[in-house]
Amino acid sequence: MKKSQYKLIIAIVFLTCFFSNTTQARDFVELVKYCESCHGLDGLSTTPDVPIIAGFSEEGFLNTIDVFRENERIAMEFHKPGEPETVMNEIAQSLTDKEAEELAKYYSGLEFKPANQSADPEKASRGAILHKKSCERCHTNNGKDPVEDAAILAGQWMPYLERQFDNILKKKRLVPKSMYRRIKKLSDQDIEALLHFYALEGNK
Ligand code: HEC
Ligand code: HEC
Repeated sequence: MKKSQYKLIIAIVFLTCFFSNTTQARDFVELVKYCESCHGLDGLSTTPDVPIIAGFSEEGFLNTIDVFRENERIAMEFHKPGEPETVMNEIAQSLTDKEAEELAKYYSGLEFKPANQSADPEKASRGAILHKKSCERCHTNNGKDPVEDAAILAGQWMPYLERQFDNILKKKRLVPKSMYRRIKKLSDQDIEALLHFYALEGNK
């Protein structure tokens, strides 16, 4: 390589680093406020369609941002009143790696608190049996303390979870094969029973 070519490459690398640092440096506090505008103060969503994101494992959080980025998980469209629709995929794509890492650290450090919702105890007791048989292995302690990056189910919003079952069955969201196999076997009634079980468990 000629010396001039070498210098040009150095200059390009330098400028790229310089500009990516300046244009991407968003204030972290502002960024968190943006997330909070949908996910609620401290990640404790009060909107039944929007998940609680506090208390996620750091690894699980980063994985989730990644699958949204790669469109391996297609998020539902969400309208805040008076604003254009926003999709988590685009939000995740707008984050830098550093921001995603900082957000993962931040939200994994916050405490998960269950959604304020009621459930039918009879359906829940049917759900308890299904859960124990098929889901407890990964969604441990009745969905409260999942292993590794499996999600917290106990206390998550029912309407949000219901959409996820639908997304998983339609393959808009990829989950571990051993989970998919189990989900595929569930009837609509089974899913309803599980939703009531997780809502009730959250309140315990
Ligand atoms: C306009 C509203 C909105 C904003 C702003 C928003 N989100 Fe979301 N987020 C959603 C919705 C709706 C979902 C559920 C998507 C789906 O259907 O899978 C979601 C899902 C998620 C999930 C997956 C949760 C789970 O249980 O799997 C994470 C993690 C997440 N958002 C993080 C963030 C972060 C971090 C920010 C800020 C950079 C943010 N969100 C900003 C609406 C929003
Ligand atoms: C082999 C381990 C495993 C088993 C068994 C399993 N899951 Fe999961 N589950 C996971 C993982 C890992 C995730 C996170 C997937 C991702 O990356 O999006 C998850 C996510 C979910 C979600 C989405 C939660 C959210 O916040 O978006 C639901 C709902 C769910 N599981 C329900 C179940 C049910 C019901 C069963 C039993 C019928 C079950 N799972 C069995 C590992 C498992």
